[in-house]
Amino acid sequence: GRGRLPFIAGNWKMNLDHLQAVAFVQKLHWTLKDAKHEEGSVEVGVFPPFTDLRTVQTLIDADKIPFALGAQDLSQHDGGAYTGEVSGAFLKKLDCTYVIIGHSERRQYHAESDEIVADKVKAALRHGLVPVICVGETAEDLERFGASAVPVGQLQAALDGLSAGADVVVAYEPVWAIGSGQAATPEQAQEVCAKLRGVVAEKLGADAAARTRILYGGSVKAANIAAFMRQPDVDGALVGGASLVVDEFAAIIRYQK
Ligand code: G3P
Repeated sequence: GRGRLPFIAGNWKMNLDHLQAVAFVQKLHWTLKDAKHEEGSVEVGVFPPFTDLRTVQTLIDADKIPFALGAQDLSQHDGGAYTGEVSGAFLKKLDCTYVIIGHSERRQYHAESDEIVADKVKAALRHGLVPVICVGETAEDLERFGASAVPVGQLQAALDGLSAGADVVVAYEPVWAIGSGQAATPEQAQEVCAKLRGVVAEKLGADAAARTRILYGGSVKAANIAAFMRQPDVDGALVGGASLVVDEFAAIIRYQK
């Protein structure tokens, strides 16, 4: 909505090795070309596993494929004795533009607290990466506190102490809607996304709030994307399962058609 460039982002999670990634990205690119998709009307982002990033970067650079590249996580540290971790500096060297931070699967399976998420957001910004900050309530939260209290609190924590105007993307992903086939209603997504924009305004200022893209994620499909995109405070989607199916993801990208 409102002059912001729509952003359709595919979070591959732990799917597609680097060879499968090449085939997938090429096929997606050619599917969009064949459909005469107008480049530039929507920003397309792919978020492969770490081990694919170099290969995908080389491919999109060599073939001039207009997809933005992002990672699914980063370390809050810049370097040093952190076995198994990946620094924002390394991601920047691979031409990553974005990095997902605080996905509910990281919060759940890797015990990422609001504090770790906030440190990772600062690390991303320190290295010139745009954090895609994920927030969302579980089914239990929804029942106890309603839809917006938990995501609003998570976003306040994630943006705490940042300088005004910091460049971020926010993704509202109700945990109960992820991979469940049961998406939030567009109206509910709008209500929470509007509140999240209020948090951006409070923490980063009114200009940043007007500019910041807020995505919806959770069982987004070709069949429901347009209804989400019609909401004034929903500026795109963070897509999981459907981002792994070329024709489905291409149809999501071409939601206006
Ligand atoms: O990050 C995107 C994701 O969590 C949504 O997954 O499979 O419901 O589209 P899915």
